[in-house]
Amino acid sequence: MDSIKMNIRQVLGSVSEEEILKQAGNAMACNKALYEKNRPGNDFLGWVTLPSSVSEKEICEIEDTAANLRSRCDVVVVIGIGGSYLGAKAVIDALSSSFDWLQEKRENPVVVYAGNNIGEDYLYELSGYLNKKNFGIINISKSGTTTEPALAFRILKEQLEKAVGKEEARNRIVAITDASKGALRTLAVQEGYKTFVIPDDVGGRYSVLTPVGLLPIAVAGINIRRLLQGAIDMENATGVNSSFEYNLPAIYAAIRNELYKRGKKIEILVNYHPKLHYFAEWWKQLYGESEGKDLKGIFPAAVDFTTDLHSMGQWIQEGERSIFETVISIQTPREKVVVPHDDANLDGLNFLEGKRVDEVNKMAELGTRIAHVDGGVPNILIEIPELNEYYIGELIYFFEKACGISGYILGVNPFNQPGVEAYKKNMFALLEKPGYEKETEAIKKRL
Ligand code: PA5
Repeated sequence: MDSIKMNIRQVLGSVSEEEILKQAGNAMACNKALYEKNRPGNDFLGWVTLPSSVSEKEICEIEDTAANLRSRCDVVVVIGIGGSYLGAKAVIDALSSSFDWLQEKRENPVVVYAGNNIGEDYLYELSGYLNKKNFGIINISKSGTTTEPALAFRILKEQLEKAVGKEEARNRIVAITDASKGALRTLAVQEGYKTFVIPDDVGGRYSVLTPVGLLPIAVAGINIRRLLQGAIDMENATGVNSSFEYNLPAIYAAIRNELYKRGKKIEILVNYHPKLHYFAEWWKQLYGESEGKDLKGIFPAAVDFTTDLHSMGQWIQEGERSIFETVISIQTPREKVVVPHDDANLDGLNFLEGKRVDEVNKMAELGTRIAHVDGGVPNILIEIPELNEYYIGELIYFFEKACGISGYILGVNPFNQPGVEAYKKNMFALLEKPGYEKETEAIKKRL
């Protein structure tokens, strides 16, 4: 099996090969620390060996539960926020046909999402869409207490029970949460829902290869065994005894920290296929929550090219020089579309006649990378042979491992997210939640 590749030629004008190699010892020590569990966040390192430790029993249980939902439901609502939905959406969007959800005759249920915002219109419209549809719910929350998913679940559970009765609703609701703690666990036990456990030592944003990601992905008809195999192979290639030269996550982590030291404070993840839009959203959460703390951290941004070349392209080419890019390039698209001949040739495109659309995309990509390097934006190129389960699995583990190493190089704890609590405290105070009386009084004085 081929593998994802990384090309760093277009960063060498900003950081030399010698400077990168000088970081090898530190990067590999950080990689080792992820196994020896001797640095901050060591309670949350279950993801490091997760791919290879998912048991056959667990895979079968996920596949069986997915089969049950697929047989009962035309639509499955995945409720969750942050790490409790982004991984699933990233993989499902990357590997499904863009217009599949619009087809009337379908092989797979439509997967929709809730609990990742508090938009009233969104919930109203979703509820309208679900009206008279056979739907089910996968409710995901590690803590089991997060407001956004809890609110969405309360509303959709009521709708489902009214539509099909409590008994059938029970067959269509799956809860994925902590083994023993939290309101969702209590509710699931009370109601007798099928449940899966999110391991204690795997944080939300590193949980895509647990049932959090695997169940919705399997419901969407995607082969989770191949996804896991890609991740296992990347896990094996980047183990504690690997060498820096072949450890792609360690190289990536070292380079981005070197660029950061040189004033490149923003990393833009670039794709040339709209299917990868949510993969970038997953990546943004992974890196943003892991590294943005202690007044440090690269700001992770993302663009879809060529779409955003017509919006953000100007800024990237000529704005403040505080950015670098990481480009995900897919070598071969899954499908083939060829440019046809046109007698009138009013658009002047006959010179492309017979070429695949991807040839045009690739030249746009190459031209852009060269233009950006010329404009002072170094780029790291990550090449994937094609979009399939195996390579997406490799890519997931690649970015997770690199994030752990990179956070340690930066000197932060990449596995906590204390900053996320600030808005929650204010929101509860403003909503006058019982127990927040003092905070309510204090915040009201500031209004
Ligand atoms: O990475 C994280 O830990 C967070 O983004 C969580 O996934 C997110 O806040 C949702 O939390 P929970 O699954 O507890 O509802």
